Amino acid sequence: MFLGKARAYTNIALIKYWGKKDETCILPMNSSLSLTLDAFYTETSVCFDKNLTRDYFSLNGEEQSVQQTAKIAAFLTMIRQQYQLDLFAKVESTNFVPTAAGLASSASGFAALAGACNQALQLGLADADLSRLARRGSGSACRSIFGGFAEWEKGADDASSFAKKIPSDDWENELAMLFVLVDDRIKDVSSRDGMKRTVQTSSFYQGWLETAPADLQTAKAAIAAKDFKALGEVTEANGLRMHGTTLGAVPPFSYWSPESLKVMTCVRQIRAQGLPCYFTMDAGPNVKILVEKKNISQLKALLLNDFSENQLITANAGPGLSTLPVERLMSDD
Ligand code: ADP
Ligand code: DP6
Repeated sequence: MFLGKARAYTNIALIKYWGKKDETCILPMNSSLSLTLDAFYTETSVCFDKNLTRDYFSLNGEEQSVQQTAKIAAFLTMIRQQYQLDLFAKVESTNFVPTAAGLASSASGFAALAGACNQALQLGLADADLSRLARRGSGSACRSIFGGFAEWEKGADDASSFAKKIPSDDWENELAMLFVLVDDRIKDVSSRDGMKRTVQTSSFYQGWLETAPADLQTAKAAIAAKDFKALGEVTEANGLRMHGTTLGAVPPFSYWSPESLKVMTCVRQIRAQGLPCYFTMDAGPNVKILVEKKNISQLKALLLNDFSENQLITANAGPGLSTLPVERLMSDD
């Protein structure tokens, strides 16, 4: 029996990953940049056991169906092939983040699973290789190996597509992200399906590909210069461009709800009043607001005019992947 356990935090992209050029290997069409956050995370245990006849997955204490286990089973099969292993596994995971609500549970989920497998099988993988492994589960997971700012260089193949930490002189510790939860239910169109439909059918996708590389350079320069306004402006613009592509898809779709638009309007108004803050959104209606830590209380106070306390969650920059002591698993019985 081989046991491993790990914790990984979610990351939110400031420059989005949107579209794959290789769906099996999960190679992206564009490079992306993210901030790992301390408010949401996943803890995952894995137990490879000769007595198992298939892979099992339980999430938040609930046994998942074979269908719900498919992505995890495919990931484990990839590991079995890569490391000539002949054992099925039991995976037990707890999301301290709403699942599939556009809050990046797939990022923390697969980063934690990669870390747990690395520990269980004593693979001894360095961060870049852990990032490549996590990427095979979910693209955005490759960035959650790292704390603070991370850049996922799209690369050309499996070997060259992984994330790395962006040197920032710890500037991320002066920043915060305020999550405005408008809906934490499972979304209709997963990020996987949404980006696929967009790549295949959106007449606006070419525009995304033409602008994303310059956005990334602008964001990296802003981080190097600790220029909050420049980082915020490119974050907001890049997120809007990503969401613009979904409107050109066939059939068109949008992750926005009326409440998302209300948050965006509030952010613009608050900014006009002189408090610098910028929004971004992922594959779901919840909105994340990038703000300097020194302004977070004021931002929260202003948003409380329109939203309730329990809709607002403050996140600071979070750490990278960590391994945890292994406890007794169900499969020990
Ligand atoms: P989100 O916005 O939450 O990342 P996605 O649609 O991108 O939503 O991903 C949700 C999917 O991620 C889930 O359906 C599941 O396949 C996977 N996932 C979520 N949590 C975990 C976890 N703890 N371990 C492994 N996979 C997970
Ligand atoms: C909008 O990483 O969840 O959050 O690789 O298919 O698992 P798969 O997709 P996923 O997509 C994330 C999309 C995004 C932007 C981002 O995080 O960069």
